[in-house]
Amino acid sequence: MIDKLGEMRRTHHCCELGIEDVGTEVVLMGWVQRRRDHGGVIFVDLRDKEGLTQVVFNPELHKSSHAKAHVIRSEFVLAVRGTVEKRLEGMANPKLRTGAIEVMVSELKILNTAQTPPFLIEDQVDVSETIRLKYRHLDLRRTLLQKNIILRHRAAAAVREYLNQNAFLEIETPVLTRSTPEGARDYLVPSRVNPGQFYALPQSPQIFKQLLMISGFERYYQLVRCFRDEDLRADRQPEFTQIDVEMSFVGENDVMALAEGLMAHVFKTVLGKEPKRPFPQLTYAEAIDRYGLDKPDLRFGLELQDISDIIKDSGFKVFADVVKQGGIVKALNAKGCVNFTRKAIDDLTDFVGVYQAKGLAWIKIREDRWQSPIAKFFSDEEKAKMIEKLDIETDDLIFFVADRPSVVNEALGHLRNNIGAQLGLIDETEFNFVWVTDFPLMEYDETEKRFQALHHPFTAPLEQDEAKLKDNPSDVLSRAYDLVLNGSEIGGGSIRIHEQETQEKVFAALGLERETYQEKFGFLLEALASGAPPHGGIAFGFDRLVMILCGQSSIRDVIAFPKTQKAACLLTDAPSPAVKAQLDELNIKVRPLAVDA
Ligand code: AMO
Ligand code: AMP
Repeated sequence: MIDKLGEMRRTHHCCELGIEDVGTEVVLMGWVQRRRDHGGVIFVDLRDKEGLTQVVFNPELHKSSHAKAHVIRSEFVLAVRGTVEKRLEGMANPKLRTGAIEVMVSELKILNTAQTPPFLIEDQVDVSETIRLKYRHLDLRRTLLQKNIILRHRAAAAVREYLNQNAFLEIETPVLTRSTPEGARDYLVPSRVNPGQFYALPQSPQIFKQLLMISGFERYYQLVRCFRDEDLRADRQPEFTQIDVEMSFVGENDVMALAEGLMAHVFKTVLGKEPKRPFPQLTYAEAIDRYGLDKPDLRFGLELQDISDIIKDSGFKVFADVVKQGGIVKALNAKGCVNFTRKAIDDLTDFVGVYQAKGLAWIKIREDRWQSPIAKFFSDEEKAKMIEKLDIETDDLIFFVADRPSVVNEALGHLRNNIGAQLGLIDETEFNFVWVTDFPLMEYDETEKRFQALHHPFTAPLEQDEAKLKDNPSDVLSRAYDLVLNGSEIGGGSIRIHEQETQEKVFAALGLERETYQEKFGFLLEALASGAPPHGGIAFGFDRLVMILCGQSSIRDVIAFPKTQKAACLLTDAPSPAVKAQLDELNIKVRPLAVDA
Protein backbone atom coordinates (compact mmCIF):
# COMPACT_ATOMS: atom_id res chain seq x y z
CA MET A 1 0.00 0.00 0.00
CA ILE A 2 1.34 3.41 -0.91
CA ASP A 3 0.45 6.00 1.71
CA LYS A 4 1.43 9.64 1.89
CA LEU A 5 4.86 8.61 3.11
CA GLY A 6 5.42 6.57 -0.05
CA GLU A 7 8.53 4.51 0.30
CA MET A 8 9.91 6.79 2.97
CA ARG A 9 10.44 5.23 6.37
CA ARG A 10 12.13 7.21 9.10
CA THR A 11 15.65 5.98 9.84
CA HIS A 12 16.75 8.43 12.54
CA HIS A 13 15.48 11.05 14.95
CA CYS A 14 16.58 14.66 14.52
CA CYS A 15 19.09 14.48 17.37
CA GLU A 16 21.02 11.43 16.39
CA LEU A 17 23.32 12.14 13.49
CA GLY A 18 26.96 13.08 13.92
CA ILE A 19 30.28 13.13 12.14
CA GLU A 20 30.44 9.30 12.26
CA ASP A 21 27.34 9.14 10.01
CA VAL A 22 28.82 11.18 7.15
CA GLY A 23 28.04 9.48 3.85
CA THR A 24 24.99 7.57 5.15
CA GLU A 25 21.62 7.92 3.45
CA VAL A 26 18.95 8.79 6.01
CA VAL A 27 15.25 9.62 6.19
CA LEU A 28 14.14 12.22 8.74
CA MET A 29 10.64 13.43 9.58
CA GLY A 30 9.53 16.40 11.56
CA TRP A 31 8.48 20.04 11.65
CA VAL A 32 10.11 23.09 10.11
CA GLN A 33 11.61 25.10 12.92
CA ARG A 34 13.13 27.72 10.62
CA ARG A 35 13.77 28.16 6.90
CA ARG A 36 16.54 30.33 5.50
CA ASP A 37 16.97 31.04 1.81
CA HIS A 38 20.62 31.83 1.13
CA GLY A 39 20.46 32.97 -2.49
CA GLY A 40 19.89 29.62 -4.02
CA VAL A 41 20.59 27.17 -1.25
CA ILE A 42 17.72 26.71 1.22
CA PHE A 43 18.46 25.67 4.80
CA VAL A 44 15.77 24.19 7.03
CA ASP A 45 16.07 23.31 10.71
CA LEU A 46 13.99 20.19 11.01
CA ARG A 47 12.62 19.44 14.49
CA ASP A 48 11.18 16.32 16.08
CA LYS A 49 10.66 15.41 19.72
CA GLU A 50 14.32 14.57 20.15
CA GLY A 51 16.04 17.57 18.61
CA LEU A 52 17.04 19.54 15.49
CA THR A 53 18.93 18.72 12.30
CA GLN A 54 19.85 21.15 9.55
CA VAL A 55 18.70 19.90 6.16
CA VAL A 56 19.86 21.55 2.93
CA PHE A 57 18.23 21.98 -0.48
CA ASN A 58 20.81 22.66 -3.18
CA PRO A 59 19.48 23.55 -6.69
CA GLU A 60 22.65 22.35 -8.35
CA LEU A 61 22.51 18.89 -6.85
CA HIS A 62 18.79 18.14 -6.54
CA LYS A 63 16.77 20.50 -8.66
CA SER A 64 13.28 19.13 -8.06
CA SER A 65 13.40 18.95 -4.26
CA HIS A 66 14.93 22.43 -4.18
CA ALA A 67 12.09 23.73 -6.34
CA LYS A 68 9.54 22.19 -3.95
CA ALA A 69 11.33 23.63 -0.91
CA HIS A 70 10.38 27.20 -1.87
CA VAL A 71 6.88 26.80 -0.44
CA ILE A 72 8.09 25.46 2.91
CA ARG A 73 7.16 27.60 5.90
CA SER A 74 7.47 27.31 9.69
CA GLU A 75 5.71 24.28 11.15
CA PHE A 76 5.19 22.49 7.82
CA VAL A 77 5.53 18.73 8.30
CA LEU A 78 8.23 17.16 6.12
CA ALA A 79 9.80 13.86 5.26
CA VAL A 80 13.25 14.16 3.70
CA ARG A 81 15.65 11.64 2.27
CA GLY A 82 19.26 12.69 1.94
CA THR A 83 22.90 12.07 2.66
CA VAL A 84 24.70 13.12 5.84
CA GLU A 85 27.50 15.58 5.07
CA LYS A 86 30.07 17.34 7.19
CA ARG A 87 29.31 21.04 7.39
CA LEU A 88 31.72 23.38 5.64
CA GLU A 89 34.68 24.72 7.58
CA GLY A 90 33.48 27.38 10.05
CA MET A 91 29.78 26.50 9.62
CA ALA A 92 29.58 23.98 12.47
CA ASN A 93 27.26 24.87 15.38
CA PRO A 94 28.77 23.54 18.62
CA LYS A 95 25.57 24.44 20.55
CA LEU A 96 23.57 21.87 18.58
CA ARG A 97 24.03 18.12 19.14
CA THR A 98 23.92 17.57 15.38
CA GLY A 99 25.82 20.82 14.72
CA ALA A 100 28.76 19.21 12.92
CA ILE A 101 26.67 17.78 10.08
CA GLU A 102 23.82 18.59 7.73
CA VAL A 103 21.63 16.43 5.51
CA MET A 104 21.79 17.15 1.76
CA VAL A 105 18.21 16.45 0.61
CA SER A 106 17.58 14.36 -2.48
CA GLU A 107 13.88 13.76 -1.93
CA LEU A 108 11.30 15.93 -0.17
CA LYS A 109 7.73 15.06 0.76
CA ILE A 110 5.59 17.78 2.25
CA LEU A 111 3.39 15.73 4.58
CA ASN A 112 1.33 18.72 5.63
CA THR A 113 1.26 22.50 5.43
CA ALA A 114 0.70 24.74 8.47
CA GLN A 115 -0.86 28.11 9.09
CA THR A 116 1.54 30.72 10.41
CA PRO A 117 1.72 29.90 14.15
CA PRO A 118 0.62 32.64 16.59
CA PHE A 119 4.08 32.54 18.19
CA LEU A 120 7.46 31.09 17.33
CA ILE A 121 8.02 27.60 18.64
CA GLU A 122 11.10 28.45 20.68
CA ASP A 123 12.08 28.08 24.32
CA GLN A 124 12.15 31.80 25.08
CA VAL A 125 8.75 32.80 23.74
CA ASP A 126 7.77 36.40 24.17
CA VAL A 127 4.06 35.79 24.47
CA SER A 128 1.52 35.75 27.30
CA GLU A 129 0.58 32.52 29.03
CA THR A 130 -3.02 33.09 27.90
CA ILE A 131 -1.97 32.76 24.26
CA ARG A 132 0.25 29.81 25.06
CA LEU A 133 -2.62 27.99 26.80
CA LYS A 134 -5.07 28.79 23.99
CA TYR A 135 -2.70 27.17 21.51
CA ARG A 136 -1.38 24.57 23.95
CA HIS A 137 -0.89 21.99 21.17
CA LEU A 138 1.70 24.38 19.67
CA ASP A 139 3.10 25.47 23.02
CA LEU A 140 3.77 21.81 23.79
CA ARG A 141 5.99 21.60 20.69
CA ARG A 142 8.55 23.79 22.45
CA THR A 143 11.60 21.82 23.53
CA LEU A 144 11.31 23.02 27.13
CA LEU A 145 7.77 21.69 27.54
CA GLN A 146 8.60 18.50 25.64
CA LYS A 147 11.43 17.91 28.10
CA ASN A 148 9.15 18.55 31.08
CA ILE A 149 6.45 16.17 29.87
CA ILE A 150 9.03 13.48 29.05
CA LEU A 151 10.61 13.87 32.49
CA ARG A 152 7.15 13.60 34.04
CA HIS A 153 6.66 10.30 32.26
CA ARG A 154 10.02 9.02 33.50
CA ALA A 155 9.23 10.08 37.07
CA ALA A 156 5.86 8.27 36.93
CA ALA A 157 7.57 5.15 35.57
CA ALA A 158 10.16 5.30 38.39
CA VAL A 159 7.38 5.63 40.99
CA ARG A 160 5.57 2.58 39.64
CA GLU A 161 8.82 0.64 39.39
CA TYR A 162 9.73 1.27 43.03
CA LEU A 163 6.29 0.59 44.45
CA ASN A 164 5.77 -2.54 42.33
CA GLN A 165 9.11 -3.86 43.56
CA ASN A 166 7.99 -3.24 47.13
CA ALA A 167 4.83 -5.36 46.91
CA PHE A 168 2.36 -2.50 46.39
CA LEU A 169 -0.74 -3.09 44.28
CA GLU A 170 -2.05 -0.39 41.96
CA ILE A 171 -5.80 -0.30 42.56
CA GLU A 172 -8.21 2.17 40.97
CA THR A 173 -10.88 3.97 42.97
CA PRO A 174 -14.06 5.72 41.80
CA VAL A 175 -14.16 9.22 40.39
CA LEU A 176 -17.92 9.53 40.78
CA THR A 177 -18.23 9.30 44.53
CA ARG A 178 -19.26 11.00 47.77
CA SER A 179 -17.59 14.01 49.29
CA THR A 180 -14.09 13.24 50.62
CA PRO A 181 -13.11 16.08 52.92
CA GLU A 182 -9.61 17.50 52.37
CA GLY A 183 -10.44 21.10 53.18
CA ALA A 184 -11.52 22.36 49.74
CA ARG A 185 -14.91 22.71 48.03
CA ASP A 186 -16.21 19.75 46.04
CA TYR A 187 -16.81 19.56 42.32
CA LEU A 188 -20.34 18.16 41.96
CA VAL A 189 -21.70 16.00 39.15
CA PRO A 190 -25.48 15.69 38.78
CA SER A 191 -26.97 12.22 38.48
CA ARG A 192 -29.50 11.84 35.65
CA VAL A 193 -30.94 8.60 36.92
CA ASN A 194 -31.28 9.97 40.45
CA PRO A 195 -32.80 13.39 39.87
CA GLY A 196 -31.74 16.04 42.34
CA GLN A 197 -28.78 13.98 43.53
CA PHE A 198 -25.10 14.59 42.98
CA TYR A 199 -21.81 12.77 43.01
CA ALA A 200 -18.74 14.61 44.28
CA LEU A 201 -15.43 14.23 42.49
CA PRO A 202 -12.82 12.97 44.99
CA GLN A 203 -10.58 15.56 46.66
CA SER A 204 -8.45 12.46 47.28
CA PRO A 205 -9.10 8.70 47.44
CA GLN A 206 -8.58 8.88 51.22
CA ILE A 207 -11.58 6.85 52.38
CA PHE A 208 -11.29 4.26 49.60
CA LYS A 209 -7.66 3.54 50.37
CA GLN A 210 -8.54 3.03 54.02
CA LEU A 211 -11.34 0.67 52.96
CA LEU A 212 -8.80 -1.27 50.87
CA MET A 213 -6.69 -1.73 54.00
CA ILE A 214 -9.78 -2.94 55.87
CA SER A 215 -10.30 -5.38 52.95
CA GLY A 216 -6.82 -6.78 53.56
CA PHE A 217 -4.77 -5.56 50.56
CA GLU A 218 -2.00 -4.32 52.91
CA ARG A 219 -0.10 -2.18 50.37
CA TYR A 220 -1.92 0.04 47.87
CA TYR A 221 -0.83 2.78 45.52
CA GLN A 222 -2.29 4.77 42.68
CA LEU A 223 -1.24 7.67 40.48
CA VAL A 224 -4.56 9.34 40.77
CA ARG A 225 -6.35 12.50 39.74
CA CYS A 226 -7.81 14.59 42.58
CA PHE A 227 -10.26 17.47 42.26
CA ARG A 228 -10.44 20.49 44.54
CA ASP A 229 -12.39 23.66 44.02
CA GLU A 230 -10.10 26.13 45.78
CA ASP A 231 -8.18 29.34 45.13
CA LEU A 232 -5.56 28.53 42.52
CA ARG A 233 -1.90 29.51 42.53
CA ALA A 234 1.36 28.65 40.81
CA ASP A 235 1.47 25.35 42.72
CA ARG A 236 -2.26 24.57 42.80
CA GLN A 237 -4.56 23.25 40.10
CA PRO A 238 -8.25 22.33 40.37
CA GLU A 239 -7.36 18.85 39.15
CA PHE A 240 -3.97 17.49 40.01
CA THR A 241 -2.23 14.16 40.41
CA GLN A 242 -1.25 12.39 43.61
CA ILE A 243 1.02 9.43 44.19
CA ASP A 244 -1.34 7.92 46.73
CA VAL A 245 -0.03 5.27 49.12
CA GLU A 246 -1.54 3.29 52.00
CA MET A 247 -0.05 0.51 54.17
CA SER A 248 -1.36 -1.79 56.92
CA PHE A 249 0.30 -2.78 60.21
CA VAL A 250 2.65 0.23 60.15
CA GLY A 251 3.66 3.20 62.26
CA GLU A 252 4.97 6.63 61.25
CA ASN A 253 8.54 5.41 60.79
CA ASP A 254 7.54 2.70 58.32
CA VAL A 255 5.63 5.11 56.09
CA MET A 256 8.39 7.71 56.28
CA ALA A 257 11.08 5.15 55.39
CA LEU A 258 9.04 3.99 52.42
CA ALA A 259 8.51 7.59 51.29
CA GLU A 260 12.23 8.35 51.57
CA GLY A 261 13.11 5.23 49.59
CA LEU A 262 10.63 6.23 46.91
CA MET A 263 11.98 9.78 46.67
CA ALA A 264 15.57 8.51 46.53
CA HIS A 265 14.68 6.11 43.71
CA VAL A 266 12.86 8.78 41.70
CA PHE A 267 15.66 11.36 42.11
CA LYS A 268 18.32 8.80 41.25
CA THR A 269 16.46 7.49 38.19
CA VAL A 270 15.41 10.87 36.82
CA LEU A 271 18.26 13.21 37.79
CA GLY A 272 21.05 10.81 38.71
CA LYS A 273 21.21 12.49 42.13
CA GLU A 274 20.35 10.76 45.35
CA PRO A 275 19.25 12.84 48.36
CA LYS A 276 20.85 12.17 51.74
CA ARG A 277 18.80 9.89 54.00
CA PRO A 278 17.24 9.81 56.54
CA PHE A 279 15.55 13.16 55.89
CA PRO A 280 15.74 15.51 58.89
CA GLN A 281 12.60 16.12 60.96
CA LEU A 282 11.17 19.22 62.56
CA THR A 283 8.10 19.44 64.74
CA TYR A 284 5.35 21.74 63.56
CA ALA A 285 5.90 23.95 66.63
CA GLU A 286 9.61 24.29 65.88
CA ALA A 287 9.04 24.96 62.18
CA ILE A 288 6.60 27.76 63.00
CA ASP A 289 8.81 29.15 65.75
CA ARG A 290 12.00 29.30 63.68
CA TYR A 291 10.71 29.80 60.14
CA GLY A 292 7.12 31.03 60.50
CA LEU A 293 5.73 28.43 58.07
CA ASP A 294 4.90 24.72 58.25
CA LYS A 295 6.76 24.26 54.96
CA PRO A 296 10.09 25.87 55.76
CA ASP A 297 12.77 26.29 53.12
CA LEU A 298 15.90 25.11 54.93
CA ARG A 299 18.30 25.97 52.12
CA PHE A 300 19.15 29.18 53.99
CA GLY A 301 19.17 30.60 57.54
CA LEU A 302 17.53 33.96 58.41
CA GLU A 303 15.61 32.43 61.32
CA LEU A 304 12.87 34.39 63.05
CA GLN A 305 13.24 35.43 66.70
CA ASP A 306 10.45 36.03 69.18
CA ILE A 307 11.23 39.27 71.03
CA SER A 308 7.88 39.61 72.83
CA ASP A 309 9.56 39.21 76.21
CA ILE A 310 12.16 41.88 75.49
CA ILE A 311 9.74 44.61 74.39
CA LYS A 312 6.62 43.78 76.39
CA ASP A 313 6.97 46.95 78.49
CA SER A 314 8.54 48.97 75.72
CA GLY A 315 7.82 52.63 75.05
CA PHE A 316 6.72 51.65 71.54
CA LYS A 317 3.03 51.30 72.27
CA VAL A 318 2.17 49.31 69.14
CA PHE A 319 4.43 46.45 70.25
CA ALA A 320 3.71 46.56 73.98
CA ASP A 321 -0.06 46.64 73.42
CA VAL A 322 0.00 43.69 71.06
CA VAL A 323 1.85 41.60 73.67
CA LYS A 324 -0.57 42.71 76.41
CA GLN A 325 -3.46 41.51 74.25
CA GLY A 326 -1.93 38.06 73.86
CA GLY A 327 -0.15 38.69 70.58
CA ILE A 328 3.56 38.36 69.82
CA VAL A 329 6.36 40.38 68.24
CA LYS A 330 8.91 38.62 66.07
CA ALA A 331 11.94 39.94 64.24
CA LEU A 332 13.98 38.97 61.21
CA ASN A 333 17.57 40.12 60.87
CA ALA A 334 18.25 40.77 57.18
CA LYS A 335 22.02 40.61 57.43
CA GLY A 336 23.90 43.32 55.55
CA CYS A 337 20.73 44.86 54.08
CA VAL A 338 21.20 48.33 55.59
CA ASN A 339 21.15 49.88 52.12
CA PHE A 340 17.64 48.71 51.22
CA THR A 341 15.90 51.84 49.90
CA ARG A 342 12.76 53.39 51.31
CA LYS A 343 10.91 52.11 48.23
CA ALA A 344 12.21 48.56 48.76
CA ILE A 345 11.01 48.64 52.38
CA ASP A 346 7.62 50.07 51.30
CA ASP A 347 7.29 47.22 48.80
CA LEU A 348 8.04 44.68 51.53
CA THR A 349 5.46 46.38 53.76
CA ASP A 350 2.86 45.85 51.01
CA PHE A 351 4.12 42.28 50.65
CA VAL A 352 3.51 41.41 54.32
CA GLY A 353 0.17 43.24 54.10
CA VAL A 354 -1.04 40.40 51.87
CA TYR A 355 -0.70 38.17 54.93
CA GLN A 356 -2.73 40.64 57.05
CA ALA A 357 0.27 42.26 58.81
CA LYS A 358 -0.73 45.78 59.83
CA GLY A 359 2.76 47.15 59.37
CA LEU A 360 6.42 46.29 58.98
CA ALA A 361 8.63 48.09 61.48
CA TRP A 362 12.34 48.29 60.70
CA ILE A 363 15.69 49.42 62.09
CA LYS A 364 18.81 50.05 60.02
CA ILE A 365 21.98 49.42 62.01
CA ARG A 366 24.44 52.16 61.04
CA GLU A 367 27.93 52.30 62.48
CA ASP A 368 27.06 55.24 64.74
CA ARG A 369 23.31 54.85 65.30
CA TRP A 370 20.11 52.88 64.89
CA GLN A 371 18.28 54.58 62.04
CA SER A 372 14.55 54.00 62.35
CA PRO A 373 11.23 55.70 63.08
CA ILE A 374 10.86 53.50 66.16
CA ALA A 375 14.40 53.09 67.61
CA LYS A 376 13.90 56.05 69.92
CA PHE A 377 11.27 54.14 71.89
CA PHE A 378 13.64 51.38 73.02
CA SER A 379 15.69 51.61 76.22
CA ASP A 380 19.40 50.77 76.26
CA GLU A 381 18.59 47.55 78.08
CA GLU A 382 16.04 46.52 75.44
CA LYS A 383 18.53 47.33 72.72
CA ALA A 384 21.25 45.28 74.39
CA LYS A 385 18.92 42.29 74.65
CA MET A 386 17.94 42.65 71.00
CA ILE A 387 21.60 42.82 69.94
CA GLU A 388 22.20 39.54 71.68
CA LYS A 389 19.08 37.70 70.61
CA LEU A 390 19.14 38.88 66.98
CA ASP A 391 22.92 38.80 66.58
CA ILE A 392 22.82 42.44 65.48
CA GLU A 393 25.88 43.88 63.74
CA THR A 394 26.63 47.03 61.78
CA ASP A 395 24.95 47.06 58.33
CA ASP A 396 22.06 44.82 59.38
CA LEU A 397 18.42 45.64 58.70
CA ILE A 398 15.95 44.34 61.28
CA PHE A 399 12.27 43.81 60.42
CA PHE A 400 9.48 43.42 62.99
CA VAL A 401 5.85 42.34 62.87
CA ALA A 402 3.52 42.52 65.87
CA ASP A 403 0.14 40.79 65.77
CA ARG A 404 -1.68 37.55 66.51
CA PRO A 405 0.82 34.66 66.30
CA SER A 406 -0.71 33.27 63.09
CA VAL A 407 -0.38 36.63 61.31
CA VAL A 408 3.17 37.31 62.58
CA ASN A 409 4.43 33.86 61.56
CA GLU A 410 2.80 33.82 58.17
CA ALA A 411 3.93 37.36 57.31
CA LEU A 412 7.52 36.96 58.50
CA GLY A 413 7.76 33.40 57.14
CA HIS A 414 6.96 34.64 53.64
CA LEU A 415 9.15 37.72 54.13
CA ARG A 416 12.01 35.35 55.01
CA ASN A 417 11.56 33.46 51.72
CA ASN A 418 11.32 36.73 49.81
CA ILE A 419 14.52 38.15 51.33
CA GLY A 420 16.35 34.81 51.02
CA ALA A 421 15.61 34.87 47.29
CA GLN A 422 16.45 38.60 46.89
CA LEU A 423 19.80 38.12 48.60
CA GLY A 424 20.64 35.06 46.50
CA LEU A 425 20.96 32.89 49.62
CA ILE A 426 19.27 29.92 47.93
CA ASP A 427 21.40 27.27 46.27
CA GLU A 428 19.16 26.32 43.35
CA THR A 429 21.00 23.03 42.81
CA GLU A 430 20.19 21.76 46.29
CA PHE A 431 17.30 19.40 47.06
CA ASN A 432 16.41 19.99 50.67
CA PHE A 433 13.93 17.53 52.15
CA VAL A 434 12.49 17.88 55.63
CA TRP A 435 9.67 16.13 57.47
CA VAL A 436 7.33 18.24 59.56
CA THR A 437 5.69 16.24 62.35
CA ASP A 438 3.52 16.65 65.46
CA PHE A 439 0.88 18.85 63.88
CA PRO A 440 -2.11 19.89 65.97
CA LEU A 441 -5.03 17.57 65.15
CA MET A 442 -7.41 20.49 64.65
CA GLU A 443 -7.50 24.25 64.74
CA TYR A 444 -10.24 26.70 65.56
CA ASP A 445 -11.73 28.39 62.53
CA GLU A 446 -12.68 31.95 63.53
CA THR A 447 -15.07 32.48 60.62
CA GLU A 448 -16.87 29.13 60.87
CA LYS A 449 -16.73 29.25 64.69
CA ARG A 450 -15.77 25.60 64.96
CA PHE A 451 -12.78 23.29 64.93
CA GLN A 452 -11.44 22.10 61.57
CA ALA A 453 -9.14 19.13 60.99
CA LEU A 454 -5.66 20.38 60.06
CA HIS A 455 -5.24 17.39 57.71
CA HIS A 456 -8.44 15.36 57.37
CA PRO A 457 -10.80 13.96 60.01
CA PHE A 458 -9.42 10.40 59.71
CA THR A 459 -5.99 11.32 61.10
CA ALA A 460 -5.17 9.60 64.39
CA PRO A 461 -4.48 11.71 67.48
CA LEU A 462 -1.34 10.97 69.50
CA GLU A 463 -2.42 8.26 71.88
CA GLN A 464 -1.40 10.21 74.99
CA ASP A 465 -3.48 13.20 73.83
CA GLU A 466 -6.72 11.33 73.16
CA ALA A 467 -8.09 12.13 76.62
CA LYS A 468 -7.92 15.85 75.77
CA LEU A 469 -10.22 15.48 72.72
CA LYS A 470 -13.34 16.41 74.63
CA ASP A 471 -12.25 19.44 76.62
CA ASN A 472 -9.07 20.78 74.99
CA PRO A 473 -9.18 19.73 71.36
CA SER A 474 -6.72 22.44 70.31
CA ASP A 475 -4.04 20.84 72.55
CA VAL A 476 -4.28 17.46 70.84
CA LEU A 477 -1.38 16.62 68.54
CA SER A 478 -1.82 14.28 65.58
CA ARG A 479 0.14 11.43 64.01
CA ALA A 480 0.41 13.38 60.75
CA TYR A 481 3.57 14.20 58.81
CA ASP A 482 4.22 16.45 55.82
CA LEU A 483 7.17 16.14 53.47
CA VAL A 484 8.65 19.47 52.45
CA LEU A 485 11.11 19.93 49.59
CA ASN A 486 12.79 23.31 49.07
CA GLY A 487 9.97 25.11 50.89
CA SER A 488 7.19 23.37 48.98
CA GLU A 489 4.79 20.88 50.59
CA ILE A 490 5.18 17.90 48.30
CA GLY A 491 3.47 15.28 50.42
CA GLY A 492 1.38 14.66 53.47
CA GLY A 493 -0.01 11.71 55.33
CA SER A 494 -0.71 10.18 58.69
CA ILE A 495 -1.40 7.13 60.74
CA ARG A 496 -5.18 6.77 60.63
CA ILE A 497 -7.81 6.17 63.22
CA HIS A 498 -8.60 2.45 62.97
CA GLU A 499 -11.08 2.18 65.82
CA GLN A 500 -14.68 3.22 65.44
CA GLU A 501 -14.92 4.71 68.90
CA THR A 502 -11.96 7.06 68.40
CA GLN A 503 -13.28 8.10 65.00
CA GLU A 504 -16.62 9.07 66.58
CA LYS A 505 -14.83 11.06 69.30
CA VAL A 506 -12.90 13.00 66.65
CA PHE A 507 -16.05 13.71 64.62
CA ALA A 508 -17.68 14.98 67.82
CA ALA A 509 -14.68 17.19 68.65
CA LEU A 510 -14.97 18.64 65.13
CA GLY A 511 -18.48 19.75 66.07
CA LEU A 512 -20.32 17.18 63.93
CA GLU A 513 -23.63 15.89 65.30
CA ARG A 514 -23.97 12.11 65.43
CA GLU A 515 -26.72 12.28 62.80
CA THR A 516 -24.51 14.27 60.44
CA TYR A 517 -21.48 12.05 60.68
CA GLN A 518 -23.59 8.91 60.46
CA GLU A 519 -25.19 10.24 57.30
CA LYS A 520 -21.84 11.26 55.72
CA PHE A 521 -19.44 8.62 57.00
CA GLY A 522 -21.63 5.83 58.41
CA PHE A 523 -20.15 3.39 55.89
CA LEU A 524 -16.63 4.14 57.13
CA LEU A 525 -17.63 3.78 60.79
CA GLU A 526 -19.19 0.44 60.00
CA ALA A 527 -16.06 -0.69 58.16
CA LEU A 528 -13.88 0.40 61.10
CA ALA A 529 -16.05 -1.80 63.33
CA SER A 530 -15.51 -4.83 61.10
CA GLY A 531 -11.88 -5.56 61.97
CA ALA A 532 -9.79 -2.66 60.66
CA PRO A 533 -6.02 -3.18 60.89
CA PRO A 534 -3.81 -0.33 62.10
CA HIS A 535 -2.88 1.53 58.93
CA GLY A 536 -1.39 4.71 57.58
CA GLY A 537 -0.14 6.28 54.40
CA ILE A 538 0.87 9.33 52.48
CA ALA A 539 0.07 11.17 49.26
CA PHE A 540 2.61 13.11 47.22
CA GLY A 541 1.67 16.03 45.01
CA PHE A 542 3.06 14.54 41.80
CA ASP A 543 2.80 17.79 39.81
CA ARG A 544 4.73 19.70 42.49
CA LEU A 545 7.36 16.99 42.67
CA VAL A 546 7.83 17.04 38.88
CA MET A 547 7.90 20.86 38.91
CA ILE A 548 10.88 20.75 41.27
CA LEU A 549 12.57 17.93 39.34
CA CYS A 550 12.24 20.07 36.19
CA GLY A 551 13.46 23.25 37.92
CA GLN A 552 10.20 25.04 37.08
CA SER A 553 8.31 27.50 39.25
CA SER A 554 4.76 26.73 38.08
CA ILE A 555 3.04 23.35 37.96
CA ARG A 556 1.30 24.51 34.78
CA ASP A 557 4.62 23.95 33.00
CA VAL A 558 4.66 20.25 33.87
CA ILE A 559 0.99 19.49 33.08
CA ALA A 560 0.10 18.86 29.44
CA PHE A 561 -3.27 20.64 29.56
CA PRO A 562 -3.44 22.81 32.68
CA LYS A 563 -6.15 25.23 33.73
CA THR A 564 -5.91 28.96 34.38
CA GLN A 565 -6.25 30.80 37.66
CA LYS A 566 -10.00 30.89 36.92
CA ALA A 567 -10.09 27.09 36.50
CA ALA A 568 -10.67 27.42 32.75
CA CYS A 569 -9.18 25.39 29.91
CA LEU A 570 -8.47 28.02 27.25
CA LEU A 571 -7.86 25.40 24.57
CA THR A 572 -11.27 23.73 24.76
CA ASP A 573 -13.10 26.65 26.35
CA ALA A 574 -14.23 24.62 29.35
CA PRO A 575 -16.28 25.20 31.41
CA SER A 576 -19.16 26.16 29.14
CA PRO A 577 -22.94 26.51 29.48
CA ALA A 578 -25.04 23.37 29.14
CA VAL A 579 -27.86 23.18 26.60
CA LYS A 580 -31.41 23.28 27.91
CA ALA A 581 -32.28 19.72 26.87
CA GLN A 582 -29.34 18.41 28.86
CA LEU A 583 -30.28 20.47 31.90
CA ASP A 584 -33.91 19.34 31.66
CA GLU A 585 -32.79 15.74 31.58
CA LEU A 586 -30.79 16.36 34.74
CA ASN A 587 -33.71 18.18 36.32
CA ILE A 588 -31.55 21.26 36.77
CA LYS A 589 -32.58 24.86 36.39
CA VAL A 590 -29.84 27.49 36.17
CA ARG A 591 -30.66 30.76 37.91
CA PRO A 592 -30.00 33.80 35.71
CA LEU A 593 -26.67 35.34 36.73
CA ALA A 594 -27.00 38.45 38.86
CA VAL A 595 -25.76 41.36 36.75
CA ASP A 596 -23.71 43.94 38.63
CA ALA A 597 -25.49 47.28 38.70
P1 AMO B 1 -3.07 16.49 51.04
O1 AMO B 1 -4.34 17.24 51.02
O2 AMO B 1 -1.95 17.03 51.88
O3 AMO B 1 -3.27 15.00 51.57
O4 AMO B 1 -2.54 16.31 49.55
C1 AMO B 1 -1.33 15.62 49.27
C2 AMO B 1 -0.43 16.47 48.41
O5 AMO B 1 -1.08 16.84 47.21
C3 AMO B 1 -0.58 18.09 46.76
N1 AMO B 1 -1.72 18.99 46.49
C4 AMO B 1 -1.89 19.69 45.36
N2 AMO B 1 -1.14 19.81 44.26
C5 AMO B 1 -1.59 20.59 43.25
N3 AMO B 1 -2.76 21.27 43.29
C6 AMO B 1 -3.57 21.19 44.39
N4 AMO B 1 -4.74 21.84 44.40
C7 AMO B 1 -3.14 20.39 45.49
N5 AMO B 1 -3.65 20.09 46.70
C8 AMO B 1 -2.78 19.24 47.29
C9 AMO B 1 0.35 18.62 47.83
C10 AMO B 1 -0.03 17.79 49.03
O6 AMO B 1 1.05 17.61 49.92
N6 AMO B 1 -5.50 12.10 51.53
C11 AMO B 1 -4.40 12.92 52.02
C12 AMO B 1 -3.10 12.16 52.02
C13 AMO B 1 -2.99 11.15 53.12
O7 AMO B 1 -3.36 11.46 54.26
O8 AMO B 1 -2.48 10.05 52.82
C14 AMO B 1 -4.25 14.13 51.12
O9 AMO B 1 -4.87 14.28 50.10
O10 AMO B 1 1.68 18.36 47.44
P1 AMP C 1 3.04 54.11 63.40
O1 AMP C 1 3.29 54.35 64.86
O2 AMP C 1 1.71 53.53 63.07
O3 AMP C 1 3.45 55.27 62.51
O4 AMP C 1 4.05 52.96 63.02
C1 AMP C 1 5.46 53.10 63.10
C2 AMP C 1 6.10 51.96 62.36
O5 AMP C 1 5.67 50.73 62.92
C3 AMP C 1 5.77 51.91 60.89
O6 AMP C 1 6.96 51.57 60.20
C4 AMP C 1 4.75 50.78 60.78
O7 AMP C 1 4.86 50.10 59.56
C5 AMP C 1 5.16 49.91 61.93
N1 AMP C 1 4.03 49.15 62.47
C6 AMP C 1 2.77 49.53 62.78
N2 AMP C 1 2.02 48.50 63.23
C7 AMP C 1 2.85 47.45 63.22
C8 AMP C 1 2.70 46.08 63.57
N3 AMP C 1 1.55 45.57 64.02
N4 AMP C 1 3.77 45.27 63.39
C9 AMP C 1 4.94 45.75 62.92
N5 AMP C 1 5.13 47.01 62.60
C10 AMP C 1 4.12 47.86 62.74
